[in-house]
Amino acid sequence: TIPVIAIDGPSASGKGTVAARVAAALGFHYLDSGALYRLTALAALEEEISWDDEAELAGLAAELPARFDGDRVFLFGEDVGDEIRSEAIGMGASKIAAYPAVRAALLARQRAFREAPGLVTDGRDMGSVVFPDATLKIFLTASAGERAQRRYKQLIDKGESANLQQIREDIEARDARDAARTVAPLRQEPDAQRLDTTALSIEQAVETVLTWYQS
Ligand code: CDP
Repeated sequence: TIPVIAIDGPSASGKGTVAARVAAALGFHYLDSGALYRLTALAALEEEISWDDEAELAGLAAELPARFDGDRVFLFGEDVGDEIRSEAIGMGASKIAAYPAVRAALLARQRAFREAPGLVTDGRDMGSVVFPDATLKIFLTASAGERAQRRYKQLIDKGESANLQQIREDIEARDARDAARTVAPLRQEPDAQRLDTTALSIEQAVETVLTWYQS
């Protein structure tokens, strides 16, 4: 079977960066599952579908006109990489991700990324729902303060204005919603290894995942 490294964890824990680098180191494919929820939220805005309309959202998710090309993301043929990263779209993604029909609509699309020679993927339910037979499952986390700092730095580096306290509140609100939902709640699976990156550099986190995978 084709190997899968499933990296789940809370918002801004660094799982996307770590997953992408591990994939590059191994020559594996990479799936940012959160991007699919973000794309669905953005597509709904563009199509004037309400974030409250589960059935319409599920239909949209099933037919999502999205394409990935390296680290670029296209929706309706347009590069939306920056747009989907906003806090507003993150909140919308978290809202619509609580609907079982939306999650079900995205399931097959996520599983299709499992192609030779292997896949590294990150999200909230990669190890629990999408790839329960993953070769290695990691719950990647960091303290809320550290995660807020990292998101803050990302925004400042992009030349955007940012408020650290507000970012921390947004992150905690999104995590609370992701953990409280009935479908695929954010939590560590019993068979996942916990990787706390509060005091680790990206390189150290990547090395740890590679060591666990190779041992
Ligand atoms: O980058 P960040 O960790 O902040 O967010 P993300 O991974 O892009 O995910 C955005 C939102 O999509 C999350 O808050 C979740 O509600 C949802 N999501 C999910 O439910 N399941 C996944 N596998 C990935 C994301």
